[in-house]
Amino acid sequence: MTEIGTVLPARECALEDERARLTRRELIKRIIASGAVASASSYVGASLAGCARAAGAAGAVERLISLNVNGQLRRVDVLPQETLAMTLRYKLGLTGTKLGCDRTECGACTVMLDDSSHYSCSVLTHSVRGRRVVTVEGVRGPNGELHPVQQAFIDELSPQCGFCTSGQVVAAVALLKSNPKPTREQARAALAGNLCRCGAYDNYLNGVMRASGQGSAT
Ligand code: FES
Ligand code: FES
Repeated sequence: MTEIGTVLPARECALEDERARLTRRELIKRIIASGAVASASSYVGASLAGCARAAGAAGAVERLISLNVNGQLRRVDVLPQETLAMTLRYKLGLTGTKLGCDRTECGACTVMLDDSSHYSCSVLTHSVRGRRVVTVEGVRGPNGELHPVQQAFIDELSPQCGFCTSGQVVAAVALLKSNPKPTREQARAALAGNLCRCGAYDNYLNGVMRASGQGSAT
């Protein structure tokens, strides 16, 4: 609150006027939106700046390579030290792959390489040439239908905030490819590398069990 008689700079006065006009909900929405944009832009900026510094320090240059991503041949310029997560999100526009920790701790960036799950933040892009990369955008059916894991996660109300969901989906799809009828403990072990800050682990496990046709409580 502003004390009576306090002289405010013009910009602060404008903010006070605007705050007075907004409902609390509108204000929170604006704060979250501006924060998200600020953090996203600073993250991208820092990452690209980091790439540029590394490139300059090592004298590295981008090189055009071909990747098999979601069944399509994608041509992209990559730096020698560029991670797959960066390439997927910021050069190929596949933003379903999330970046949480960017250091092999959370699983938000999980993708499949030749049907097994990997953290794309810890894989160099040039190292996956000749391999099949599948992101969450690539697990749907040929007619765009949801993968059974995605449908089961919806049916079980598995996601809470949803930030970890794409990683959980890809990890679960990879599990069911190698083990179509996992026990609940096997599913728990397979998804153990995918952290969920909302703590929705049991809901995701229910989804995996449902997707495997064993019922969510199995
Ligand atoms: S962003 Fe890759 S493991 Fe966290
Ligand atoms: S649903 Fe929020 S982090 Fe998993």
